[in-house]
Amino acid sequence: MTNYIEANKNRFLSELLDLLRIPSVSADPKFKDDVRRCAEAVKDAILKAGADLAEIHETPGHPVVYGEKIIDPALPTVLIYGHYDVQPADPYELWDSPPFEPVIKNERIYARGACDDKGQFYMHIKALETMVATGTLTCNVKIMIEGEEEVGSDHLGTFVRENKEKLKADVILISDTSIIANDTPSIEVGLRGLTYLEVEVTGANRDLHSGVYGGAVANPINVLCEMIASLKDENNHITIPGFYDKVQELSADQRTALNEAPFDLDEYKRDLAIDEIEGETGYTTIERTGIRPTLDVNGIWGGYIGEGAKTVLPSKAYAKISMRLVPDQHNDEILDLFTQHFLSIAPPSVKVVVKPHHGGLPYVTPVDSVEYRAAELAMKEAWGGKQPVPTRGGGSIPIVALFEQELGLKSILMGFGLDIDALHSPNESYGLFNFYKGIETIPLFFKHYAELKR
Ligand code: BES
Ligand code: MN
Ligand code: MN
Repeated sequence: MTNYIEANKNRFLSELLDLLRIPSVSADPKFKDDVRRCAEAVKDAILKAGADLAEIHETPGHPVVYGEKIIDPALPTVLIYGHYDVQPADPYELWDSPPFEPVIKNERIYARGACDDKGQFYMHIKALETMVATGTLTCNVKIMIEGEEEVGSDHLGTFVRENKEKLKADVILISDTSIIANDTPSIEVGLRGLTYLEVEVTGANRDLHSGVYGGAVANPINVLCEMIASLKDENNHITIPGFYDKVQELSADQRTALNEAPFDLDEYKRDLAIDEIEGETGYTTIERTGIRPTLDVNGIWGGYIGEGAKTVLPSKAYAKISMRLVPDQHNDEILDLFTQHFLSIAPPSVKVVVKPHHGGLPYVTPVDSVEYRAAELAMKEAWGGKQPVPTRGGGSIPIVALFEQELGLKSILMGFGLDIDALHSPNESYGLFNFYKGIETIPLFFKHYAELKR
């Protein structure tokens, strides 16, 4: 098996680079045809890997690609999930090389989607090819690669509900998360949930002269800033009433175990070029991103932002706000709590509207299952006997909780990215080490899973 990977590694890489050349940005309608072209390319790649079938399923949004290879109905079935859509590459001028013209530099692939998630789901297609070509496939494989993950997976829920029989499996395997370091394998056992919304604050019915009216009429930008600032107290604790009611507190032992994962605060600060970190009092950085909820402004605008100065008292101010959630917070409940509270703190001098965007539930993978054990054994074997550490990731893949609800399946988050991969940022990259290590580890998961299930 490793011989096959070694013999074909250059082709595997050049195929991935071809996929990275397709700008499959799901958020921007300008790329709609490219997104479809990418779906076609994924379908072809699944067929070429030796699947029995691969098909494109239309949705009201971007298509879902589905494929399968059923070798024996008596064997366990692994459902692979990934996404072929990518985040917008803006701002382009901050990239050292164009985002959709992949280059290899310092043993890394630089391109939008290199790690999130093309480089990662493509490992599964190449692992499938390897197992088929070497006659070592030990499980049935189903593979579902969607095109709307980065915009909230709006239509995948319907696809899943309408195709429960087709998607029948024993476990879902996903590579769309990170490991601690290349010499420290780890498996994410938690994803945070998400409530995303937008707020609009309106003062007067039109922009005003800031001299004629300034000081006498509410400035919606000033008001919005004050409202946002009041959402956290001096301990960086979120002030929305009821916000923490459902947050699961970990036991002292669980917290100790969580903090045993290797973490170098100095390196963390150096990487981000910050002098100090900031977060909720009483929690470590690992806890702040893993087991605690957050509230962040993702964007804020209004008034005059052109060249030079314009003395204006704006009529409107806007902000996009996201909250990362942890078990057992519910994104709809948090949306309600936020909305109620935000409207209640608005002074009578402005009007406030809260517009919900997408959301999703948090997720935790049980570690006492054969599925987790198989992933652990696979990584351990691929890393020469090093035991992978379970970690709680800070990111969200909202569809994972829905998979459990609708299909009754647990997901194993066997991702291979690194924090330095710059997901969603300019100069996103993915290590060649990680790409090949993934292709090597995935067949080991299949091997151990089949053995454990026997
Ligand atoms: N792959 C990421 C999520 C992720 C990244 C999990 C790193 C763990 C470690 C995924 O593509 C993503 O970006 N999800 C979005 C949510 C979505 C609703 C836009 C996120 O976390 O912001
Ligand atoms: Mn992703
Ligand atoms: Mn992403």
